[in-house]
Amino acid sequence: MSVHRATPHDAARLHVSGAARYTDDIPVPAGTLHLAFGLSTIAKGRMTDVDLNAVRAAPGVVAVLEADDLPHDNDVSPSAHDEPLLSAGEICYLGQPVFLVVATSHLAARKAARLGQITYAAETPLLTIDDALAADSRFEDGPRIYIKGDAEAAIAQATHTVTGQIEIGGQEHFYLEGQVALAVPQEGGDMVVHASSQHPTEIQHKVAEALGQPMNSVRVEVRRMGGGFGGKESQGNALCVACAVVAARLGRACKMRYDRDDDMIVTGKRHDFRIAYDVGFDGEGRIAGIIFEQFVRCGWAQDLSLPVADRAMLHADNAYHLQHARITSHRLKTNTQSNTAFRGFGGPQGMVGIERVVDHIAHHLGRDPLEVRRANFYAPADATSAASGDGHQPAQAPPAQDDLATRGAAPKGGGVSTVPATAQTTPYGMEVTDFILHDMVAALETSSDYRARRASVAAWNEANPVLKRGIALTPVKFGISFTLTHLNQAGALVHVYQDGSIHLNHGGTEMGQGLFTKVAQVAAAAFDVPLDHVKITATDTGKVPNTSATAASSGTDLNGMAVKIACDTIKDRIAACIAERYQAASDQVIFTDGHVEVGAERIAFKDAVQLAYMSRVSLSATGFYATPEVTWDRIKGQGRPFYYFAYGAAATEVVIDTLTGENRILRTDILHDCGKSLNPDLDIGQIEGGYVQGAGWLTMEELIWDDTGALKTHAPATYKIPCASDRPEIFNVSLWDGANAAETIYRSKAVGEPPLMLGISAFLALSDAVASCGTDYPNLQAPATAEQILSAVDRVRW
Ligand code: MTE
Ligand code: MOS
Repeated sequence: MSVHRATPHDAARLHVSGAARYTDDIPVPAGTLHLAFGLSTIAKGRMTDVDLNAVRAAPGVVAVLEADDLPHDNDVSPSAHDEPLLSAGEICYLGQPVFLVVATSHLAARKAARLGQITYAAETPLLTIDDALAADSRFEDGPRIYIKGDAEAAIAQATHTVTGQIEIGGQEHFYLEGQVALAVPQEGGDMVVHASSQHPTEIQHKVAEALGQPMNSVRVEVRRMGGGFGGKESQGNALCVACAVVAARLGRACKMRYDRDDDMIVTGKRHDFRIAYDVGFDGEGRIAGIIFEQFVRCGWAQDLSLPVADRAMLHADNAYHLQHARITSHRLKTNTQSNTAFRGFGGPQGMVGIERVVDHIAHHLGRDPLEVRRANFYAPADATSAASGDGHQPAQAPPAQDDLATRGAAPKGGGVSTVPATAQTTPYGMEVTDFILHDMVAALETSSDYRARRASVAAWNEANPVLKRGIALTPVKFGISFTLTHLNQAGALVHVYQDGSIHLNHGGTEMGQGLFTKVAQVAAAAFDVPLDHVKITATDTGKVPNTSATAASSGTDLNGMAVKIACDTIKDRIAACIAERYQAASDQVIFTDGHVEVGAERIAFKDAVQLAYMSRVSLSATGFYATPEVTWDRIKGQGRPFYYFAYGAAATEVVIDTLTGENRILRTDILHDCGKSLNPDLDIGQIEGGYVQGAGWLTMEELIWDDTGALKTHAPATYKIPCASDRPEIFNVSLWDGANAAETIYRSKAVGEPPLMLGISAFLALSDAVASCGTDYPNLQAPATAEQILSAVDRVRW
């Protein structure tokens, strides 16, 4: 069987030899034109005069377009219709596209784009969370609130309380391949678009709208992305629409690619958050009641901010059973880039909030944070049916009051949900029935030698005045499914050719994560033929329609199932044909090891296919899958948004230099749950990459805007991502061996996003190292850059 096997990424050789074809490598038709945006130089105000004569006169320029020149819809937003391709006068952030240059070369277009003379009536921009709060500038009319039990009363009755606040910076996606698109006009007004996009169907949709044509006149093809990380769910719409509009107008192919600086200045990033907390707990650190206030900086347009903010609320519990919780989310509108999906989709920020709280509680009580974590865990999977006996009883819980009545002032559009305090539900009322972290954390505690190393870290810190070490072991529980329930669907198209070779297509996109390899493994396993029989082909809206973005880590779960269903349809047809031929029942026909067996007969797969073909049997089928059991009301904040949870845990040890703030990760041990892994090597790759990306976010990647709203960190010279040498010196990654309790494809689990949150252990290990310098809680803010660490050391010392 080709599943549960480590096989290399299907394009690994092409990647390393430079032969993998990305959008920018596609040979273009003669006469292809190149596009660049002219960008605003203020963050808020109106354009009062636009003089583009110098742009038009620049060498190589063929055309210059403004908002008025667009034939139809001037909108590239994924949802709210609030994101013009070109500003129609109003400026909402610094770097906003205001005009479009069409030229004979990429360089000519970029040079000309700088020559626009624009006069503005500037206004004071809202740049920060505080600016937005002061102006009450938000998406949705008020905050969204989830309530379980009565947090205030529980905190008031608790023996101990702490309050605090953490600022969590955003993150640039830094996909190695930047945003890029190529539109090639066809006969009769049709359009073919090649894009680096996680969401070909949305590109098709937006291009069709912009051309004023039906979706069937637009075909979008994506072979691969050089990384997406959520940054290519919606933020590539503008390039595709721009290329298609100009291609339709001039009848020539058009290509656009952002230079790295423009990519960082124009596109949105991970949402930065402020999370304030107020928590009551007992002497063991068991949380009695907790109040979170999440402030989300969304930027100028709505994009995916509402579901991102929802997911942050949905992960405010992480692995902990909260009896009494209130989680408030403020979705703030600012004059900055429109923040968007980024690996974890808000989940990581919510999780940082609760992990910070647990760390703070442990510090307050002088206990090992791991013990406080365990004391608050959900009950294990096998104990959830019985009343849990390990401290999870809702003992002496204050009665849940009807908060809807007392908070009747919940503003329109905002909303309040209440969930009664029960034995084993999340703050949004979903039962947790598959919790496996007790066993996983125990296993990691042993394999990482956590206890002994915690003691030796303490001994080291006792002996060394300058270099201080820290260690932290943190868990991850991440919900799998799109919270917008209807997106949990996928389609596939499978052809078996006369020679027994298989052509595979599905709605997912490849961005380096290995989706195509895994899905090909599924197809090969279904027919039980060698993997090299399966040809992986580009994602194409003309082959599989109405696809969801490849996102929410659901690519394999959804498309793998759809492919298996398509393969099973073809198998059934072949089996019926063979059964008839050999006078057997269909269910006696077995596909095994490259053959089809019936009774004593053993026919090579390709001969069986040939027989079916000669018998006029269809060897092509579609497959369709919709995730069962998920129902979620995002306005009420109640239901079962997730089909299951993916789990993981990481132990990280760091060292800091208390004179400079410099720091390194010394060792990381990870145990991660991929269910029954479809491909252990690809999964370990996702785990290593996710961890490093998460640690980078929380420790070194820092976005800085000046007070005009200009992003100052817009290239690798000023924005520092982890490099190979930042990888932990010792890096042990293992997979938790256990089947998914939910009926997923071959009982595997999604792996794309959850490991990013393992990086939280690096942040808290740094906090632990700083804490050893004094007695106060370090109150470390993210990212914990060298400067942050140095000032935190100063704070705890004096
Ligand atoms: N891995 C690589 N190499 N490149 C990427 O762009 N994106 C991540 C994750 N892993 C990404 C990646 C994100 S944000 C998601 S949602 C998932 O992959 C999407 O793919 P999947 O659903 O097939 O896991
Ligand atoms: Mo991933 S943030 O869901 O594209």
